[in-house]
Amino acid sequence: MYTTELQKTASLGATEDPERLAAFEARVAADEFIEPKDWMPEAYRRTLTRQISQHAHSEIVGMLPEGNWIGRAPSLRRKAILLAKVQDEAGHGLYLYSAAETLGTSREEMIEALHSGKAKYSTIFNYPTLTWADIGAIGWLVDGAAIMNQVPLQRTSYGPYARAMVRVCKEESFHQRQGYEIMMVLAAGTPDQKRMAQDALNRWWWPSLMMFGPPDADSPNTAQSMRWRIKRETNDELRQKFVDITVPQADALGLSVPDPALRWDKARGHYDYGEIDWEEFYAVVRGEGPVAKERIAARRQAWEDGAWVRDAAAAHARKHGRREAA
Ligand SMILES: [Fe+2]
Ligand SMILES: [Fe+2]
Repeated sequence: MYTTELQKTASLGATEDPERLAAFEARVAADEFIEPKDWMPEAYRRTLTRQISQHAHSEIVGMLPEGNWIGRAPSLRRKAILLAKVQDEAGHGLYLYSAAETLGTSREEMIEALHSGKAKYSTIFNYPTLTWADIGAIGWLVDGAAIMNQVPLQRTSYGPYARAMVRVCKEESFHQRQGYEIMMVLAAGTPDQKRMAQDALNRWWWPSLMMFGPPDADSPNTAQSMRWRIKRETNDELRQKFVDITVPQADALGLSVPDPALRWDKARGHYDYGEIDWEEFYAVVRGEGPVAKERIAARRQAWEDGAWVRDAAAAHARKHGRREAA
């Protein structure tokens, strides 16, 4: 999938007017934002549409594993917090669909691509949430990894995407903290609670590292995306940062990261970590994740169940339009 995408990108770039392309690249190199009405190469538009819509889909599909736990959260306070977090994710999805729409693809087309299985979303959401500790681990690790990815995107070259990220990042820091706080309570609780926290870390650690995408060597889109400042840091750089920040957090919890190869490398000033199972990653990308089918089925069901709300909103807008015209 990645290679074909690159070939498409490369061949498209070659057909652009060289003068316009040079002017565009000079603006990007000067750290100017590109805005919806500005000229942009088709490959830039296409790459961004894919990236922003995948990001939007991830926010929306990400609501599903956590939404399952709102009714089962262990206290009223936990329910209220989780409900607020899931609502935040819906808001992120909406900002991002709006940002992607400014590139010329309609929201209906994007939603259709998600529901038909044509569009991708983050592989992480195709893993099941088995216990309450998973909600802690998701906030801590998955939202933590999302922040690592999204902070540099506040300086991405496409204006609407960059601006959406500013607010999203603020909310993601709360998500990360609420997850870590769940883990703190469990890790300091009964032996059973601590075991539950360790088990959640064991299951979510590796999929969280996979969230940064394939290694740089197997990510041929990276070079072009860095050049156009869509991406500001590579997958491996972001992954390393995440490991460096997260390992001491696991230590503080008294939990152990499930990686026998993990050790502090004094010379590099970074943690070395073990080999990621890329076979598993590509299988999940292909749609073979443990709960991939359930996720899309739940999304489609939610879309159908919400049809009356969309119809009512459209009827309301029509009525007001008529009144204003009168
Ligand atoms: Fe989010
Ligand atoms: Fe989040």
